[in-house]
Amino acid sequence: MDVVILAAGLGTRMKSKLPKILHKIFDIPIIDYVIDAAKSINPENIFVVLNPSITKLTEHLSKNDIKFVFQNEPKGTAHALLSALPYLKSNKILILNGDTPLIRKETLANFIDLFDKNSLDMGILSFHSKREHSYGKILRDKDGNIKRIVEITDSSEEEKHISEANSGVYVLNKNHIAELVKEVKENPLKGEYYLTDIVEIAVKKGKKIEAYPLANEDELIGINTRSELSLAIKYLRDRIINDWMDKGVTFYDPQSVWISPKVSIGADTIIYPCVFLEGDTKIGQSCVIYQGVRLKNCTVEDNVEIKDYTVAENAHIKDGSKIGPFAHLRAETVIGRECRIGNFVEVKKSTIGDGTKAAHLSYLGDAQIGKNVNIGAGTITCNYDGRKKHKTIIEDNVFIGSDTQLIAPVKINKDAYVGAGSTITKEVPEGSLAISRTPQKTIKDWVKKRREKE
Ligand code: UD1
Ligand code: CA
Repeated sequence: MDVVILAAGLGTRMKSKLPKILHKIFDIPIIDYVIDAAKSINPENIFVVLNPSITKLTEHLSKNDIKFVFQNEPKGTAHALLSALPYLKSNKILILNGDTPLIRKETLANFIDLFDKNSLDMGILSFHSKREHSYGKILRDKDGNIKRIVEITDSSEEEKHISEANSGVYVLNKNHIAELVKEVKENPLKGEYYLTDIVEIAVKKGKKIEAYPLANEDELIGINTRSELSLAIKYLRDRIINDWMDKGVTFYDPQSVWISPKVSIGADTIIYPCVFLEGDTKIGQSCVIYQGVRLKNCTVEDNVEIKDYTVAENAHIKDGSKIGPFAHLRAETVIGRECRIGNFVEVKKSTIGDGTKAAHLSYLGDAQIGKNVNIGAGTITCNYDGRKKHKTIIEDNVFIGSDTQLIAPVKINKDAYVGAGSTITKEVPEGSLAISRTPQKTIKDWVKKRREKE
């Protein structure tokens, strides 16, 4: 089987500079969902019909072993299929719309099964739509056989009330149907060649055609407008969250949580409202993710607590650690087991050993920090000299007093202490105390003396 994905339309209804198929649902472009669905049936070839202006996409497709053909002018869906026909090798052809990303793999498989079982020349995947839309309508005769598809712009008042809609997903027997594409006439209203017109032509020639209303409206939504894009995002969001609930994840307010399709979550994890889990984030079992947290491409092991309004990207948080509230973990950060990273602590490109605590108001950048270290409030690694980044090394069991600046490159060897308020510029040897405060000077009766002068 070959798959043809029609994606050369201009998507003018989106009112966007970006081609429609590159708009994203969560962090994945619309076209990638369709390609994924196509791949699920293991076809010989996948062709995407593109408008020549979408050169941005060709490299992305080639990398994924997807072929593409250009439709030089967007003259309609029949014309788009015609552009691909000379390249197709198989006799069975699945046609997908590039703007219908939520189709389920099982639905596609069932649909193709029915096509095979009933030895059809053409199968049409349909659905019943309850909302106002711009889909083509399936017209049937009194015996229920399909007669033709009428586009909404060409339909009579009576036809407008038909609820069965065309999804734009078809399977064709190429030998029996492909030639008929050439017989499609230009639609007088739009000046386009409609693939849907092939149905009437084929029915009149006695070809075997069926439309199967196999799927729900939500999985066949076609994205033509921003409002349909937002509906598609909502449908997918609900699908993903229901899936995780089935697998044992608790959501206190599913309607406010956003989880990308590639994210995974372990059982008995609890997710509070307004949480965003993006990219390749993996969350372990029995974690608690409090409200307003955003995690992108993070790995979170089991029993981790991430408190309110924490933001983390490309970070790895190991078993049993507690993060936040209001923590910021940036790229290449690894937080060990049973750590505590508290409020207003920013960690960048740093490794933090097991049991280490940085509970308040710190910046730890380019640091390698050992086990059971205590980082006092307000500690700053001064990692940047205006030109280069430098490393701070803090070994196991070190105690850094509050409001310390560590001027990198610098190393604090194990079991050492740094007194609060110090500016550390030199290596601190094992087990020693370093302190760099100026001795305190106290001027007695200073206020009284000043008043006397005034
Ligand atoms: C199309 C169907 C409609 C169906 C709906 C399902 C036609 C005439 N109508 O309508 O019956 O209910 O899909 O979502 O087929 N494309 C090209 N080249 C073109 C024009 C379009 O490749 O010249 C591609 C588009 O990029 C898109 C797909 O074909 O992915 C469908 O085109 P679109 O303009 O969105 O058609 P609809 O009006 O949604
Ligand atoms: Ca469409």
